[in-house]
Amino acid sequence: MNKNEAAKTILKTQYNQQPINENGEAFAPSNIALCKYWGKRNLELNLPITSSLSISLGDKGAHTSIEVIDSHQDKIYLNNIPVANTDKFAHRITKFLDPFRTTKKLAFAINTKSNIPIGSGVASSACGFAALTKALNNLFGWNLTDTELSILARLGSGSACRSLWHGFVKWEAGIQDDGMDSYATKLNYNWPDLRIGLLLISDATKPISSTNAMLRTVNTSSFYKLWPQQVAHDLVQIEHALQIKDFQKLGETAELNALAMHATMLTSNPPILYSTPKTIEYMHKVWQLRQQGLGVYFTQDAGPNLKLLFLEQDLKKIQNTWQDIIIITNEHKS
Ligand code: PMV
Repeated sequence: MNKNEAAKTILKTQYNQQPINENGEAFAPSNIALCKYWGKRNLELNLPITSSLSISLGDKGAHTSIEVIDSHQDKIYLNNIPVANTDKFAHRITKFLDPFRTTKKLAFAINTKSNIPIGSGVASSACGFAALTKALNNLFGWNLTDTELSILARLGSGSACRSLWHGFVKWEAGIQDDGMDSYATKLNYNWPDLRIGLLLISDATKPISSTNAMLRTVNTSSFYKLWPQQVAHDLVQIEHALQIKDFQKLGETAELNALAMHATMLTSNPPILYSTPKTIEYMHKVWQLRQQGLGVYFTQDAGPNLKLLFLEQDLKKIQNTWQDIIIITNEHKS
């Protein structure tokens, strides 16, 4: 099955129907995995080898608007600034939109307004594709369910299927070849005191995309065969920690999960290392603070930046250590 067929399966009789509105817009929060998605069983449909679990980043994310235009090609804007169609960012959006063009000539203008750095491992593609999927749903008037939107968002970027909700979200890997059982759902846990701190070490574009890094890891790392077991264990631990609000268990499991993911990358051939000296320095700082009794843990995605996990009660101490840390609360306006 390809992306086109997947879109057809979801849209059913609405496939190939004209947009009912002149434009559509939507916001989607960014998300950070506490138990990571690393490795695809299907490259075309972004089907994962394992399930994963994330927390959304409140008001940090993407607001996307889309409209039909009279042009021979799409017009892509990032934060109101035009992006060349040859650019990777624009190319990914255009490719994602292809299954939804009712005629080959249908072109769109898309503006993604993001309040997080693009391409730096702060899940910009996750919120971008989730917001675009919701905006498309509004433009075409599809009235899709959250599950269906999650499946469509996954076609843009795997982790985007988790960005349709606020709070904690789990993406079930599924087993079907067509991916119709591979989507995310919102978990009913609440943790108002939980804080995330973004330590932006660099907003430079990643040296290797997460897709290529996953491919290389799955194909060459001898450690990768341990990854599914690690995830199965960590998912149980994290859900249990969320249930009983055991912060230490949550933090320890999330940090070790991220380190295990990076260990599979380090043992790939050629090796993949997203960390910079500053990343390592901050890791040591986190471990040092923990030894001094502070409840702080980190997680890291496909980039050099660290995301800290801590509780509101320790906010001042964290801010004293890292003055430029960006604090995320789970709360959101909508
Ligand atoms: O959705 P992608 O292809 O950008 O991959 C995301 C991979 C990680 O951010 C490293 C892990 C995750 O689960 O979000």
